[in-house]
Amino acid sequence: MSKIIIAIDGYSSTGKSTLAKQLAKKLHYIYVDTGAMYRAVTLYAMRKGYITDTYFEALDLISDLNNVKLHFVFNETKGFGEMYLNGINVEDEIRKLEVSQFVSQVSTISEVRKKLVEQQQEMGIEKGVVMDGRDIGTVVFPNAKVKLFMTASADKRAKRRYKELLDRGDEGVTYERVLKNVESRDYIDSTRLDSPLVKADDAIEIDNSDMGLEEQFGRIMSLISIRM
Ligand code: DC
Repeated sequence: MSKIIIAIDGYSSTGKSTLAKQLAKKLHYIYVDTGAMYRAVTLYAMRKGYITDTYFEALDLISDLNNVKLHFVFNETKGFGEMYLNGINVEDEIRKLEVSQFVSQVSTISEVRKKLVEQQQEMGIEKGVVMDGRDIGTVVFPNAKVKLFMTASADKRAKRRYKELLDRGDEGVTYERVLKNVESRDYIDSTRLDSPLVKADDAIEIDNSDMGLEEQFGRIMSLISIRM
């Protein structure tokens, strides 16, 4: 069967990565979490002091972008590629709420997007890829054979994310802080000028507010079989 590209876009914490991992495993495809790449650039900017609670010097980050080297290293035990920033595994650190608080701002910078989109397009050259993010079906792979657009209520998403952060041992998080972060990222991601989060015309919308993982996976697999 010929390999295809599956593009999964949608709001934060809609379970895009869970679904993408399930699909990649079933189809023996490569999973690419593009959010991890934006998060790693954000972590770099935070460490360099280009972005703080009171300050964001985008030009400093832009002029230093050539020093940001990103790649994924497949972790056999976990079954997916972990994010490496300049040769160091940052998979855990990029998931923290502090990084989530700045990532949408960093993602508005066109120079950052250009660099990451080029790298993402290279990863899809051989097809056989499930990629999730915000602009995969609209910008990165506008010709992807299958495009999904995931939504769920902000409350459901914040609850899922809050539980995830607690499970990871992220201290100091509250449901209210997570909800606020989810809502503010929705706003910035969908209103930015460069590649805003919008549903591609040919994407299939899935609202999983009240759908279990099994049901969702079954529905999407049958849809993909038809497209393949
Ligand atoms: O998928 P995520 O929540 O880990 O993504 C983190 C942020 O990265 C998200 O709020 C917006 C940005 N992002 C983006 O702008 N484009 C992508 N393709 C993926 C993520």
